[in-house]
Amino acid sequence: MTDTINADTRFSSPYGAWMQVFAFVYDSFLWLGEIAGMRKRRSELLADARGRVVEIGAGTGLNLVHYRDEVAELILTEPDASMRRRLERSLQRSGRAARIVDAPAERLPLADASVDTVVSTLVLCTVDNPERTLAEIARVLRPEGQLLFIEHVRARSRFLAAYQDMLFRPWRAFAGGCCCNRQTVKLLRDCGFNVEADDAVWRSMPTIVHPIVVGRAIRS
Ligand SMILES: C[S@@+](CC[C@H](N)C(=O)[O-])C[C@H]1O[C@@H](n2cnc3c(N)ncnc32)[C@H](O)[C@@H]1O
Repeated sequence: MTDTINADTRFSSPYGAWMQVFAFVYDSFLWLGEIAGMRKRRSELLADARGRVVEIGAGTGLNLVHYRDEVAELILTEPDASMRRRLERSLQRSGRAARIVDAPAERLPLADASVDTVVSTLVLCTVDNPERTLAEIARVLRPEGQLLFIEHVRARSRFLAAYQDMLFRPWRAFAGGCCCNRQTVKLLRDCGFNVEADDAVWRSMPTIVHPIVVGRAIRS
């Protein structure tokens, strides 16, 4: 790639060996939620992905089957080695052309204004530094470039939000760093994105990850 820039992309998960287990059980843990509606949501969201597409935190590759012909180039970033091994296998099975890059979303080794679409599904809850990640997404997006996202966020209900606050630490340790009470839409707006998002329910998943928001953010 001619526009790849040098960046320090070293990433060390504080969840260490547990990430191997988490990556191993990940698809099974999500399976019911996928067939209960998340797979359809992924497909509808990614129908809008176009041009040069960068997916952050691509995990085991659950989005791969949903990309369409409008995608000219696909770059999958994933900083965790256990997830990346599964992603490599999923990519091989899919027969799709894509490049896997070992990098955290806070430090994308991509040139400024070089990307048409960034995709984040269930990742902005997990990144260590969401403000830095959103600044990095804004940096790599072309003017009018879009971030397509599905994220679970802090509940609007006070009762459920208090439940998320109470279980924050054990959930974070279980789910590889996931912050169940993150106010991702507010963060996006605070970081200068124009956001269109709909609330939805991630059916057949624990209430701690309700609700989800599905939408698009454009650099303003
Ligand atoms: C809940 S999983 C979501 C995986 C996939 N995007 C999906 O929709 O199934 C969160 C992913 O974010 C990755 N991740 C963790 N920290 C990250 C960071 N700083 N930058 C990018 N990805 C990160 C994890 O390794 C994991 O693959």
